Amino acid sequence: MNCRIIGNTSSKDIAELFTSVFTLAEGKQEGRAVGKLSSELVAGIDNENIICFGAYEERSLIGSIFFTRLWFRQPILVYMLAPVAVHTEYQGRGIGQMLISYGLNELKKRAVSIAITYGDPSFYSKVGFHALSEEVIQAPLKLSMPHGWLGQSLSDEEIPVIAGRPSCVAAFDVPAYW
Ligand SMILES: CC(C)(COP(=O)(O)OP(=O)(O)OC[C@H]1O[C@@H](n2cnc3c(N)ncnc32)[C@H](O)[C@@H]1OP(=O)(O)O)[C@@H](O)C(=O)NCCC(=O)NCCS
Repeated sequence: MNCRIIGNTSSKDIAELFTSVFTLAEGKQEGRAVGKLSSELVAGIDNENIICFGAYEERSLIGSIFFTRLWFRQPILVYMLAPVAVHTEYQGRGIGQMLISYGLNELKKRAVSIAITYGDPSFYSKVGFHALSEEVIQAPLKLSMPHGWLGQSLSDEEIPVIAGRPSCVAAFDVPAYW
């Protein structure tokens, strides 16, 4: 298994991966929704505001993860991890955690200050995320599950309080995702 950055050439593989994994995990409707989201994100990959990584076994894509920029009034580099999927047959072998760690390491090399995600704390705490209060960093849209708002510092500094609601990439600017 190896991890690498993905350009916008493997769009079909990525959408198929997210659709099939989320269909099996959470049902047809969620599978279709996350597949559509992944297609939109792939179309916008610029390796700057939308960054995508893949995990490959031989030449097959078995996992993928997106990081997208959140923009605040101050020029701090903050990225959101979402979504991430590992092919159903390969789950539970450490690939998800490896892919997330690989992505976070790449962000560190780019001097990103903070990574944020929105999901299950019991999984994301395994890769360094902890609960993040919206009094410290707000979400771009209103959260339906504030306990799933998670963050980690990618520098030696603690996460600072950042004023104001950030904006996110257009694909995530949809209340239903939050
Ligand atoms: C979540 C996901 C990316 C994890 O990848 P993975 O390769 O299966 O995970 P790993 O093998 O690295 O880690 C497994 C650990 O995470 C836990 N875990 C896996 N999926 C989990 C989930 N959805 N919720 C909570 N914990 C989860 C396992 O219990 C296991 O814990 P353990 O090591 O204490 O036994 C993968 O299971 C997946 O694609 N799931 C469906 C889609 C999804 O839920 N994506 C995340 C939301 S965007």
